[in-house]
Amino acid sequence: MLKGTINLKGDKSISHRVLIFAAMAKGQSSIINLSACDDVKRTMDILEKCNIKIIKSNHQININSTKVKSNAKTFDCGNSGTTARLMLGFLPANGITGTLYGDESLSQRPMSRVSKPLQELGINISNNKTLPISFKKSHPKNINYTLKVPSAQVKTSLILAALMSDKKSIIVDPFKTRDHTERILKYLGHHDKQFYKFKFKGFQYNVPGDISNASFIITAAALIPNSDIKIKNILYNKTRIGYINILKKMGVKIKTSNHRSEFYEEVCDIEVKYSTNIKNINLNNEDVVSMIDEIPIFALLATQAKGTLIIKGANELRIKESDRIKAIVYNLKQFNADINELDDGIRIKGPKRLYSASIKTFSDHRIAMTMAIAAIIAEKKFVINKDIELLSCTSFPEFYHLIKLLYV
Ligand code: S3P
Repeated sequence: MLKGTINLKGDKSISHRVLIFAAMAKGQSSIINLSACDDVKRTMDILEKCNIKIIKSNHQININSTKVKSNAKTFDCGNSGTTARLMLGFLPANGITGTLYGDESLSQRPMSRVSKPLQELGINISNNKTLPISFKKSHPKNINYTLKVPSAQVKTSLILAALMSDKKSIIVDPFKTRDHTERILKYLGHHDKQFYKFKFKGFQYNVPGDISNASFIITAAALIPNSDIKIKNILYNKTRIGYINILKKMGVKIKTSNHRSEFYEEVCDIEVKYSTNIKNINLNNEDVVSMIDEIPIFALLATQAKGTLIIKGANELRIKESDRIKAIVYNLKQFNADINELDDGIRIKGPKRLYSASIKTFSDHRIAMTMAIAAIIAEKKFVINKDIELLSCTSFPEFYHLIKLLYV
C-alpha cells in the first residue's frame, strides 16, 4: 500500500513561464520550488545563453536580468515542446537571431500552429513546419487572433511576443486552455485584456506542486489496496483539474482541503484513499482539454473501473511526445486490458485483471510512468525499471523516489 504525506516540486508549466518572465523583468527575481525536470532545465539553459544570470541553490533560484542578448546561434530544446514553442515567441521579439532545434521526438512535432500566427504578428521565422526553425530578431506588430487548436503553448508564445510591441494585440482562447501566463501577468500588475509593451520589476514567486505529476501518485493510491496518502500544496487551477473532477465523479475517494489563493493561483492539499467502487464515465472535449496530460494515467485507472468508457475529441494526443493514443492502447493491451483505439480517442471496458507485460515506452515520459504504475498494480510489488527512471526525468525526476517513500 501507499501511506504518508508528501510535497511535490513545482508545476512544470508554471516553472517555464516564471523563468521567462523573470528574464523579461528588470532586476532580480527569486523563485522557490521550481520544477527540477529536464524540460524546465532546457528553458533555463537557453535563458542563460541569452545573458540571464541564474544562481541555483536547493530551495531557491535567483535570476538576474539586465538585457536579453546572445552570441549563440543555436538553442537546444531537447524533448520540451513548451520550451520550443514559448521560445519561438520570446527570443526573436527580444532581439535574438538564431535556430531552435530539439531531439528526434520534438523534431517531428507540429510547429506551424505557432510559427504561422507569430509571422502574422510580425516575427521573422523560417517557414518550417517542424524543428529546426530559424528566426531573426524582429519588432512585433499586433494581432487579433482566436486560437485554432487547443494549445496553451501557442497562446503563451503569442502573448510573450505581443508584450514586446507598442501596438495592442487581442488573443482569444475559446478552448479554455491552461491560463498560468495570464495569472502570472496579473500578479505582475498587468490587468489589461489586451497585450502590449509591459515593463515590470524583478519579483518573488513560489511555484505550487505539479498537479500532472500528482495524478500518477493519486492513481496509484486509488488502485493499490489499503492506500491512504496526502499530497500538500498542489496547484488547483480550474483549467488543470479535469482529472480530479472526473475521479470524484467516478467514485474515487479523493478529498481536497486547505484551499487558498497564492500568486493568483489556487492551491490546496489532496487526500486519496484506496477505492473499491470506481465506475467508468465518458469524457467530452472540454474534459479532455482540462486533463490532456493526464489521459495516459487516466486510461490505466479506467481499466480497473466498472463499465465502458469512451474518450473522444482527443486528437491532440496523437501529436504529443508520442502518438499517445497508440502508445496507451498498445501497452495496456499487453497488460490484458480491454481497450481499443478510436480515430480521436480510446474505448476501455473494465474492470480487467492486469498481468505483467513487457512494455514499449515510445520514448515518452508520461507513457513510461503510466506503465510503471500499471506494473505495480499487475505484479503487486514495487520494482524500479531503469529505462522508466531515466525517462521520468523529463517531467518528474522524483517519481520513483516518492513512490518508494510512500510504499509500505
Ligand atoms: C503546456 C501545454 C500543453 C501540455 C504541455 C504543457 C504548457 O500542450 O500538453 O505538457 O505548459 O503550455 P499544448 O499547448 O500543446 O496543448
